[in-house]
Amino acid sequence: MCGIVGIVSSRDVVGVLVNGLKMLEYRGYDSAGIAAVNGGEILIERNIGKIANLEDLLAKHPISGNTGIAHTRWATHGVPSVNNAHPHTDQSSVVCLVHNGIIENYQVLKDKLIAEGIAFQSETDTEVISQLIGFYLKNGTGFEEAVRQACCDLEGSYALAVLSKNETGKIVAVRNQTPLCIGLGKDENFVASDITAFLEHTKEVIYLNDGEIAVVTRDDVKFRTVKDGNELDKQAVHISWDVEEAQKAGYPHYMLKEINQQPLILVDVLRGRFRVGEDELEMPDVEEFVTPDIDHINIVACGTSWHASLVGKFIIEAIARVHVSVDYASEFRYRSPMVDDNSITLAITQSGETADTLAAVRMVQDLGRKTMSICNVVGSSITRHCGLNLYTQAGPEISVASTKAFTSQLATIYLLAIKIGIMRGVLDDSLFQHYLRELRALPRKLTSVLENVEELKRWAKYFQKKQNFLFLGRGVNYPVALEGALKLKEISYIHAEGYPAGEMKHGPIALIDDEFPTVIVAPASATFDKVKANLEEILARDGDVLVITNQPDEFRRYTPFIFTIPEVDELFSPILTTAPLQLFAYYTALRRGCHIDQPRNLAKSVVVE
Ligand code: M6R
Repeated sequence: MCGIVGIVSSRDVVGVLVNGLKMLEYRGYDSAGIAAVNGGEILIERNIGKIANLEDLLAKHPISGNTGIAHTRWATHGVPSVNNAHPHTDQSSVVCLVHNGIIENYQVLKDKLIAEGIAFQSETDTEVISQLIGFYLKNGTGFEEAVRQACCDLEGSYALAVLSKNETGKIVAVRNQTPLCIGLGKDENFVASDITAFLEHTKEVIYLNDGEIAVVTRDDVKFRTVKDGNELDKQAVHISWDVEEAQKAGYPHYMLKEINQQPLILVDVLRGRFRVGEDELEMPDVEEFVTPDIDHINIVACGTSWHASLVGKFIIEAIARVHVSVDYASEFRYRSPMVDDNSITLAITQSGETADTLAAVRMVQDLGRKTMSICNVVGSSITRHCGLNLYTQAGPEISVASTKAFTSQLATIYLLAIKIGIMRGVLDDSLFQHYLRELRALPRKLTSVLENVEELKRWAKYFQKKQNFLFLGRGVNYPVALEGALKLKEISYIHAEGYPAGEMKHGPIALIDDEFPTVIVAPASATFDKVKANLEEILARDGDVLVITNQPDEFRRYTPFIFTIPEVDELFSPILTTAPLQLFAYYTALRRGCHIDQPRNLAKSVVVE
């Protein structure tokens, strides 16, 4: 996600800010910018691409100052461009700010400000905040109070660091649902989204809570509540992490960090499409692009995104009653696919750069048919070729093994399916409410799954030396079996195959013996008894069985290896059944001493054929 660093000091802060940004590079970004207050003026430089590009710009147009803020942007609203890069100012260039998060009601606020005669310079949701603060300042409000009032108008998530040219030597920082902390230095103080940005200068940290403002000066930091401006007393903590530990938020690997980010990502995906406290699914972009007479969706994808697509077929056909076909992009591009008039080709891709998926999209585009994407990277190649892009809000995925992208793709598919179902009139209100309840319960249920790691560590310890694994699932959990097998093979180098459980008797059962364990994904479902019968067939051939289920009592007499997930509608179970498989792969690879975040022979983005 985006990164923030700010400093109030007695020395020139520009070099310190650039170094702080470099410490945040691991988070991923597409542009960077910096602002310093000097002689009552705010000096700003911004550039797209790497921080080195910003440094080149600063070499040509040097700026300096004792107070400054800087930012790395990961685009969410508006493509990566100089205009959209932070910092953003108000119309009179009195204040300037950097922002992490998403302002949900930005369009409403923007319309109001435009009606007041304010002209916007960017496509971002962020600029609404700087313009709003400028608006309050013009009405005679003081700097800190203008920031506080503006925040009272905002809905959504935000971490802010704000400068004013009229109050040099001060940064006003605010947190709401997006991390922000204060570093207490010697003759200087820091603001950052993440302690790595200032860890080389101080390890004394105060974390802001949601709804808190910090007024940071060189020698002092004062805290207030956003809601009523009441003063707060906050204590610093001492951080003992080094920079690398801090970048992984204390996790030993990015993969584990990303697995654990999944509940919050689910919250973000839902938040992006439902107004606070309301049940209306806001997808005007889908309404405009997808017509109710749509009769076919062709999904193209690779790897984990292909598995998400297979789950998507079950979801979209069940909820929206539209026929869905799923292709490996690498196969689709080399056959003569049927791409009808009333069809849409949907590319699902984390990176937006996968060569085969891009080629498939281009092919459909050349045929003059509609293309859309579900993608994690704003402005990536595939999104530039699609008529509609639904962004997954998962933040940069650093581990080569994809985990949080899969979950965010599924969450987006649920929303898309529900929207199309409503548009096609196939979804009545009680079913809509049921789906909504299931979706909204997922973050909490997923958190409880992720807290229950001991059983999976035990599986990893017991089975780490095996050379082969079979993964079985049925229906919407058949692709989950494929994903479980892919995760295990790519990071632990154990051979693993995924199969629909009903296919076991047609071949794979020949492999089963006491050295060939099987993971069965078996939540309550229409085919539950049939999957249990598969289990008995495996046990009869001396195979070990490991079960992921929400019906643990049904399996206790067969196997000691049971991982219990919460009760869930089968259609919404894949997010909960996949997470334990991600963790099983992780702990197995850990036991085998594998290079988890960068497995051998694999690249994060496969940009060549
Ligand atoms: O960026 P994409 O989603 O298009 O990438 C597709 C695959 O290359 C990717 O999912 C790959 O299979 C991962 N290593 C899986 O963990």
